[in-house]
Amino acid sequence: MSQPSVNIGMVGHVDHGKTTLVSALSGVWTDTHSEEMKRGISIRLGYADATFRKCPNCPEPECYTVSKKCEGCDEPSEELRTVSFVDAPGHETLMATMLSGAAIMDGAILVIAANEECPQPQTKEHLMALNIIGIKNLIIVQNKIDLVSREQLIEHYHQIKDFVKGTVAENAPIIPVSAQQNTNVDFLIQAMEEIIPTPVHKMDKDAHLLIARSFDINKPGTPIKDITGGVIGGTLTEGSLSAGDELEICPGIKIESEGTTRWEPIKTTVTRIVAGKEPVEEATPGGLLAVGTTLDPSLTKSDTLTGQVAGLPGTLPPTHDDFTLELHLLQRVVGVSDEEEIDPIKTSEPLMLNVGTATTVGVVTSARKDVAEVKLKRPVCADIGGTVAISRRVGSRWRLIGVGVIQD
Ligand code: GTP
Repeated sequence: MSQPSVNIGMVGHVDHGKTTLVSALSGVWTDTHSEEMKRGISIRLGYADATFRKCPNCPEPECYTVSKKCEGCDEPSEELRTVSFVDAPGHETLMATMLSGAAIMDGAILVIAANEECPQPQTKEHLMALNIIGIKNLIIVQNKIDLVSREQLIEHYHQIKDFVKGTVAENAPIIPVSAQQNTNVDFLIQAMEEIIPTPVHKMDKDAHLLIARSFDINKPGTPIKDITGGVIGGTLTEGSLSAGDELEICPGIKIESEGTTRWEPIKTTVTRIVAGKEPVEEATPGGLLAVGTTLDPSLTKSDTLTGQVAGLPGTLPPTHDDFTLELHLLQRVVGVSDEEEIDPIKTSEPLMLNVGTATTVGVVTSARKDVAEVKLKRPVCADIGGTVAISRRVGSRWRLIGVGVIQD
């Protein structure tokens, strides 16, 4: 399998079939965390790679497949490209995880189950999030078509059309699919080939890796001499990375001494890189990478470094303990059945902020109509001019209320 060249998000309301669809396309079931298995819902971001292929003999769309042999004529199929699926959780309490996943998506599939009325709350909230983060290459999958009649399917199609009117998904194709029965997966691959192109990456820039996961891959009790260094997982947004490269990770680690807290960047060396299950000498943007380092694995265990940014020393964007945001708020709170108007942001209120793959809480120190100054509980590494998804506490949950642009 070649290195994935594009990240495709799988988003939508809980239980609408995102993980099943990723499995139909890649053969990988992304819910592997034991709690996810028990509860039957995705809690973390799931990742799986798939290579799209085309039969040289069969007509479109039947020619599209993920099998090495064409199901139609049994002839060998030809490789088109490898993609990485980012499977976001659909539960309303997991919007922060969905938003950090959205930061690394080049395009997305909005999965909507045909056996429920459209839109469900997180169908709406996820579409709004894609809108805010600026993901424009979208496909809608009308899933679970095996559970409804033709008439119900057509009625549901009209509900989807009404719902997406005036949004970024207004012209997105709507593909009826049964992820469970593998129905119309060829049409879906054809749509991804046409609508979600491989982005043109800036290869002459310094490497910039958004960290989405981090792991300690050692089994408990491994002797010290056999310990493997910490592993970080993420996506390169620009530049390239090779084994032997020096890396700086920002904001780094929290150091508390004599009543003060500061964050210090971590320095390490890349030991190996795995892309699309294969070790590679040099990784380029697109897809999700696992990067082996010389770090003490206690620094990377259990996603400790999620949200941080890695790159060559001295090349990373600034780390912010506070920033000023230019605000663009939505009109109404989405994602709840009872949609309220959004009040202006107030001084002293806490906000949940998603910046790249980082999730942090900020307290507003000063608020005017279109600008807020925010002090962060946990610093973030981000470019001036970068976008921040803003959520506010409504009832017992964080709800997406708009976007901010970092001023300084
Ligand atoms: P979260 O990640 O927790 O938001 O859920 P999800 O959207 O990934 O849903 P998942 O793939 O876990 O599917 C939920 C349930 O729907 C499972 O029991 C699937 O077997 C079932 N399901 C998914 N796709 C189909 C389909 O096309 N037809 C039918 N009949 N059932 C489906």
